[in-house]
Amino acid sequence: MNELRNVTVITHPLVQHKLTLLRDKNTGTKDFRCLLQELSTLMAYEVTRDLPLDDVEIETPICTTRAKLLSSCKVGVVPILRAGLGMADGIMTLIPTAKMGHIGLFRNPETLKPVSYYCKLPVDAADREIIVVDPMLATGGSACEGIRIVKEHGAKSVRLMCLVSVPEGIRAVNEAHPDVQIYTASVDSHLNDHGYIVPGLGDAGDRLFGTK
Ligand code: PRP
Ligand code: URA
Repeated sequence: MNELRNVTVITHPLVQHKLTLLRDKNTGTKDFRCLLQELSTLMAYEVTRDLPLDDVEIETPICTTRAKLLSSCKVGVVPILRAGLGMADGIMTLIPTAKMGHIGLFRNPETLKPVSYYCKLPVDAADREIIVVDPMLATGGSACEGIRIVKEHGAKSVRLMCLVSVPEGIRAVNEAHPDVQIYTASVDSHLNDHGYIVPGLGDAGDRLFGTK
């Protein structure tokens, strides 16, 4: 069995606490939405840790000084619809100058293969640090396809932020996209016979939008 590569597990207590609340089946849609947004803001802190800074000169009220700015680093946030939408605003709060793209994918419930139905990306995706966001990395089919699509549009630097993952999904991304770093709050045990993460949190899209 291949070992897991390119994965950062975010163990911060606030992240782990909020993830536990989110997993609980008694957490309703309103709280689920709020927690997912808070979690994505907290995770974004780690996901963006290595963004390149520029040296600039500024004037404080006291003197002139050199300081750091993310002035030339351009970010693109790309949620995979639907559930990725629940994580997008949490990052945009921290990086308001980021542009957002959207990729629409759903899993065929029989084959578990991703079916693509929408794509709109920033025109300059090639020049941006792209963060693909989706709360669930299960078989990895959707993430691999989402990353393939952003690369097809020219993206050269792509990272994946997913709240809950399993080894199967991480290995799939490792194999298809060895250049992509994966950020997750948990590597869960395994997939069940229906391709759901165990213990997981259930169907993220349905819980986020209250569709079941
Ligand atoms: C969920 C989830 C991921 C995908 C993960 O979306 O948000 O996109 O499943 O599974 P995978 O790793 O096996 O591809 P879903 O297909 O349920 O669509 P939805 O967000 O529109 O409900
Ligand atoms: N998609 C979900 O929403 N949840 C899972 O556990 C697996 C795929």
